[in-house]
Order: sequence, then C-alpha cells, then structure tokens
Amino acid sequence: MRAFVPLAGGLLASLSSAQVLVDFQVAEPPPVPNSGQQCTMLILERTFGNSYGDPEIVEYSPPTDCGAVGSWAAVTLNFTVTSNGTQYDRLGIFTFQNTEIWRTSTPEPTTDGIIWTYTKDVTRYIPLFDKPGTFILELDNIVTSTDTGQYATTLYATFYASSGEYPTAGQSNMIVPISTMLNNTSDEASVPPAFSLNVTLPQNTVEIYAELYASGNGDEEFWYYNTADEYLGYLPPGTTYGGGPFREVRLLVDGQVAGVAFPYAVIFTGGINPAVWRPITSYGAIDLPTYFLDLTPFAPVFADGLPHNVTLDVASAETNHTLNQNWYVSGLLQVVTDPSGKQTTGSITAYDAQPYAITETTASIGGADVNITVKAQRSLKIEATIVSGSGTTNNVVFQQSMDFTNTQYYLDDANTQNVAQISSGSIISTHNGVSVLTDNFDYPLYINFSALVDNDTVTSYYTTFDHSYNRQLVPAPFILGSDISERQQTAGYLTLLTTGLVTANGTSNNTFSYIDTRGNTYDRDVNAAYDVITYDEQSGSLATTPLPTFPLASNAQFIPGARLPGGRVCA
Ligand SMILES: *[C@@H]1O[C@H](CO)[C@@H](O)[C@H](O)[C@H]1NC(C)=O
Ligand SMILES: *[C@@H]1O[C@H](CO)[C@@H](O)[C@H](O)[C@H]1NC(C)=O
Ligand SMILES: *[C@@H]1O[C@H](CO)[C@@H](O)[C@H](O)[C@H]1NC(C)=O
Ligand SMILES: *[C@@H]1O[C@H](CO)[C@@H](O)[C@H](O)[C@H]1NC(C)=O
Ligand SMILES: *[C@@H]1O[C@H](CO)[C@@H](O)[C@H](O)[C@H]1NC(C)=O
Ligand SMILES: *[C@@H]1O[C@H](CO)[C@@H](O)[C@H](O)[C@H]1NC(C)=O
Ligand SMILES: *[C@@H]1O[C@H](CO)[C@@H](O)[C@H](O)[C@H]1NC(C)=O
Ligand SMILES: *[C@@H]1O[C@H](CO)[C@@H](O)[C@H](O)[C@H]1NC(C)=O
Ligand SMILES: *[C@@H]1O[C@H](CO)[C@@H](O)[C@H](O)[C@H]1NC(C)=O
Ligand SMILES: *[C@@H]1O[C@H](CO)[C@@H](O)[C@H](O)[C@H]1NC(C)=O
Ligand SMILES: *[C@@H]1O[C@H](CO)[C@@H](O)[C@H](O)[C@H]1NC(C)=O
Ligand SMILES: *[C@@H]1O[C@H](CO)[C@@H](O)[C@H](O)[C@H]1NC(C)=O
Repeated sequence: MRAFVPLAGGLLASLSSAQVLVDFQVAEPPPVPNSGQQCTMLILERTFGNSYGDPEIVEYSPPTDCGAVGSWAAVTLNFTVTSNGTQYDRLGIFTFQNTEIWRTSTPEPTTDGIIWTYTKDVTRYIPLFDKPGTFILELDNIVTSTDTGQYATTLYATFYASSGEYPTAGQSNMIVPISTMLNNTSDEASVPPAFSLNVTLPQNTVEIYAELYASGNGDEEFWYYNTADEYLGYLPPGTTYGGGPFREVRLLVDGQVAGVAFPYAVIFTGGINPAVWRPITSYGAIDLPTYFLDLTPFAPVFADGLPHNVTLDVASAETNHTLNQNWYVSGLLQVVTDPSGKQTTGSITAYDAQPYAITETTASIGGADVNITVKAQRSLKIEATIVSGSGTTNNVVFQQSMDFTNTQYYLDDANTQNVAQISSGSIISTHNGVSVLTDNFDYPLYINFSALVDNDTVTSYYTTFDHSYNRQLVPAPFILGSDISERQQTAGYLTLLTTGLVTANGTSNNTFSYIDTRGNTYDRDVNAAYDVITYDEQSGSLATTPLPTFPLASNAQFIPGARLPGGRVCA
C-alpha cells in the first residue's frame, strides 16, 4: 500500500488560521496481529507542568479479558502528547516494576501547539505486564513566564490475544531490573561514578540476556563533540567540553567485564538547530535505542543463588577513562530458568576481555586548524559450559568486535566545527553452535557547523547533519529480530539577534527500511522543509494504516533557543 502527499502549495491561501504541528519520529509500526481480539487500557493521564522530581505514579493490574494473563501475542504502548507555547525538550523515562521499559524525549512545542503519538512495541516485557505493579513516568519539566509549554500526556496499553495464527509471544521466565529500585521516582542511575547493585537470580538460571539503556545528558549531551583533554587548550575557551568523544557503556559482574555497548548518538530536538528536528524528530529522540548482551556465560556464577555485584558505567578514551556529568543508565536481565528447578552447574572456560577498549588519540594542528582523531577498538570473547538441572549441556560463545573513529575538525579558529564519527561492530552469541543473539551495527554521523556572523548584534550559523542507524539485531532467541536501515539528512540556519529573538529554519530528508525475522516489512521516505511535509511515501506489509495528512504548519519559527556543544546556548 502506498500513499503520497504532494506539496500542497495551493492550499496556503485558504488556511489562514493557526495549525497544530504533528511531530513524529520515523519508525516502523509495531508488528502486531492485524486480526483477533485486542484490549486497550488507560495506563496514565497527566499534564506535566512544573514537574521536576514529581513523576506520575500509578498502579497497574493486567487485563483479564484478552485471553489468559501473559498469553498475549503482543503488547504495545500508545503515548500521545500535546504541548502549546515555548518549551525545551525534556527527557521522559517509563519505569515499570522498577524496570526501565522506554526512554523518550519531547519534541519542542510551538506557540500554535504540537501533538505527537508514538506506539511502542513492549512485547518483550510481557513477564512484567503479566503481574500487578507500579508504573512510573518521570518527565521533568519547568514552566516559567517564557518557557510556557506544559506536556499533556496520555498512555494506553493494548494487549493482543493469542490465537492459532498469532501464538503467544516468546518470553523469558523473569525480568530482573538493574536499577536504583526506587518506588517514588524513575529508576535510572546517574554516572559517573559507576552504578552497582547486588543481583540475586534463581539457582536454576540457564540463560541470561541483558538490555541496557544509556543516554548522555548535561555536559555529555553532545559527547561526540567533546574534545580529548590534551587538545582542549588549543581551542578558544568554551568551544566544547573535555573528556574526548569515545563512550563505552560497560556491564561488569563481580568486577569483571561481561559485555559493552558503543551507544548510538541520539540528538535531542533542542540540539544545535531545533528547526531541523521539526516536525520530524531526530532518529531515536522519541524511542531511544537500547543495547543487548548475552550474559549466559555468567549463569553458573549466579546459580549459587547468592547476591552478585552488577555494575554499569561509561568509560572514555582518556587516560583515566573519565568523562563529564552525566549519563543516565539502567538495565534489565531477561532470565530463562530450567523446568527441573535444580541448580545449574558449569563454568566460564575461556575469558578474553580487557577492562577497557584499546584507544588512540592523534591530532594535526596548524594555522587556524585543530583536527583531532580518536579511535577505539574493542574485542571480547567469553566461552562457557552451562549444564542445566535437567542435564542438558550448552556450550556458549559470546563475542564482540567493535570499532570507533571520531574526527573533529575545528577550522578557521573554530568558526567551522565539523565532526565525522563512525561506530560499527559485530556482536554474536552462539549456544551449541546456534546463533541466539546478533547485533551488526553501523552508525555513521557527520555534522558540519559553520558560524556565519558572530558580532555584537547578530549570531548566526548553518549546520548540516547526515546520520544513519543501520542495525541487524536479534536481542535474544525469544525476541523478534529486525534489520533497520535509516538515514536522516538535515540542514538549516539559526539566527540570534541581541533582542533575544531566535529564528531558525530547516529541512529534513529521511529514508527508512525495516524487515524482521517474521518477514514483516516497512519502508518510508519522508521529507520536510520549513516545518511542512513535502514528500511522504510508505510501503511494506506493516503499512496497514494510511499516512496522516499533515496540515500546513503555522509560520511559528520562534524557538526557545538552541543548545550547542560546550554548554553554549543560543538564546
Ligand atoms: C493511540 O492513541 C491515539 C489517541 O487516543 C489514537 O488516536 C490512536 O488511534 C491510537 N493508536 C494506536 C495504534 O493505538
Ligand atoms: C494545547 O492546545 C490544544 C488545543 O487547544 C488542547 O487540546 C490541549 O489540551 C493543549 N495542551 C496543553 C498541554 O495545554
Ligand atoms: C520499593 O517497594 C518494594 C515493595 O514494596 C520494597 O520491597 C522495596 O524495598 C522498595 N524500595 C525502596 C528503595 O524503598
Ligand atoms: C524516595 O524514596 C527514597 C527511599 O525511600 C527517599 O530517600 C527519597 O527521599 C524519596 N524521594 C522522594 C522524591 O520522595
Ligand atoms: C560492587 O563493587 C564495587 C567495586 O567494584 C563497589 O564499589 C560496590 O560497592 C559494590 N556494590 C555492591 C552492591 O556491593
Ligand atoms: C552485596 O552482597 C554481598 C554478599 O555477596 C554483601 O557482602 C554486600 O554487603 C552486599 N552489598 C549491598 C550493598 O547490599
Ligand atoms: C583524570 O585525569 C584528569 C586529567 O589528567 C584529571 O584532571 C582528573 O583529576 C583525573 N580524574 C581522576 C578521577 O583520576
Ligand atoms: C584539517 O582538516 C581539514 C579538512 O580535512 C583540512 O583541510 C586541513 O588541512 C586540516 N588541517 C590540518 C592542520 O591538518
Ligand atoms: C553584525 O553583522 C550583521 C550581518 O553581517 C551586520 O548587518 C551588522 O552591522 C553587524 N553588526 C556589528 C555591530 O558589527
Ligand atoms: C561536511 O563538509 C565536508 C567537507 O566540506 C563534506 O565532505 C561533507 O559532505 C559535509 N557533510 C555534511 C553532512 O554536510
Ligand atoms: C532534501 O531533498 C531535497 C529534494 O531532493 C533537496 O532539495 C534538499 O537539499 C535535501 N535536503 C538535505 C538536507 O539533504
Ligand atoms: C532560512 O534562513 C536563512 C538565514 O536566515 C535565510 O537566508 C533563508 O532565506 C531562510 N530560508 C527560508 C526558506 O525561509
């Protein structure tokens, strides 16, 4: 099925009144049954005004009218938000049963108002949804006389009954959080310093798959623009932060590295030029990617039934691996237990992992240029033999091979600030020779920033972004795998006058392609220019609902300002 929205220039004259802007992140519609019984329940409804440290906390009970509890074929969350006025982008964290299940951020509103809806597949969290518990949405917002936007949110969950055609979704036996376990806030930890907690698993644990959430915030929001400490002094003061651009999220068990993630650089909608992320947000801004590791080699370690120290941290390529404040991290373990109930035995038979990635920092400095390259390489291989209480033997091999290169070009006394970063890798885990977890990823990121005018009355710059998310991912043998190729190319101008008025414009071109291990497909090409959708085409088996018809946007180009590397603010 195809739909096409042509440039509707002729409509301009007839639309004189203000228009609500429909924001969205390009993504596949969740691969859910398209027939059969479904039940939708309201999880929460809340307007986040001055909501700092004041999350929405509600009690959840599973629906009983959509087949046996937990027997569902799929579960989705549908989050709809409106906001009117001027406001910064905010982080939103959904915590359920002390486990983070969705990290999001908000598009910035316009004076004529915005609305967005995102439907997220949470089928892999059925072991949480099949029992009552506390659901928390923390969305820390601050309303002032100038930042007037509140975020009015509604969250529904939809449960899809299983059937002959749509069987019960694959699932683990239990999900164990790696979180702060607090009941009155969202449960992510702020690092540095490293976060650790004691985790106790059942003695009959035979497989463990970890999922990690991680995002750079504050002085780490533009981590890919942070400069190696040894060269920071060559740049004009305030250009950017130190700590360099390499970031590795590590998971340790009893002090030993069990696996690592090279994060995708999510650009929030207030980043560098907010106008280019409107109405199409940067990829990942509404649904931040997460990272998966096979911790099955550690099953015999946890099988003693005693507490083990699980640590999450983020390391840089600096000599002492330090970085700035802060990263928010959390995680969860999908645990598979043996039906015998008897204790798992076995051991790690080969462990080849360095505590930190191998890194190299070089620079070429001359004239008005400072060019700095940071490279990192990570190899890890852990082998183990796991013997279940039922007597089956599982020979596990978990391997990671990842590469990172970031070159920053500060030219013309840093009037030009370009970054070229490629993070790529291959993660594979086999159980008795059969592949159970794979993650082949490639995340090229190119940003060019050029100051055009910078004097007492005017600051203006032009930026271009070319950012891709190419990822072939199977998170665990019981979780649907997918192959996504996404590319976003954006460009725009931002001008700040001494009067405080910020005006900006931008264009955004997006190509997105999805295929999953059940054969579902989805493709979408969508472009925006100056807040208006100029081209929109979709196809594939998941393209079952027509594309929205986008109203012509308001001419509201007023933005609260833009955040830049180094804590600079254009506002
Ligand atoms: C999500 O909720 C919105 C608002 O209630 C509704 O219009 C939309 O149809 C829902 N979408 C899905 C996929 O459930
Ligand atoms: C924004 O305005 C719309 C339309 O008037 C309204 O329905 C919605 O509740 C408003 N949202 C907020 C957060 O004020
Ligand atoms: C959260 O609530 C659970 C269940 O009531 C309790 O066991 C746990 O101690 C609480 N956590 C904290 C940090 O208070
Ligand atoms: C949340 O609970 C923790 C532990 O019980 C307590 O220390 C903290 O003050 C509480 N925070 C809020 C915002 O109520
Ligand atoms: C885990 O180990 C680290 C040192 O590696 C220590 O600082 C931390 O307190 C330990 N955490 C727990 C929960 O025991
Ligand atoms: C973690 O468990 C160990 C025992 O394995 C215990 O010594 C330590 O005190 C525990 N730490 C915390 C913070 O509970
Ligand atoms: C890390 O190194 C930097 C630069 O040498 C130094 O300023 C900082 O104090 C060190 N931090 C730690 C935790 O050792
Ligand atoms: C820095 O990189 C730019 C762009 O590749 C190049 O033109 C310039 O010559 C380089 N400067 C130095 C000092 O290497
Ligand atoms: C700043 O630059 C603008 C645009 O080039 C120019 O019109 C204006 O006169 C300049 N102002 C000052 C104080 O130099
Ligand atoms: C950035 O500039 C370089 C050098 O001029 C160019 O090769 C590259 O295509 C530009 N990238 C983007 C995203 O505009
Ligand atoms: C987006 O595509 C349009 C039409 O092909 C083109 O004019 C524009 O330059 C592109 N914008 C970016 C940022 O690549
Ligand atoms: C975008 O902004 C730049 C710089 O202010 C301006 O020259 C250009 O005309 C604007 N483009 C559109 C289509 O408004």
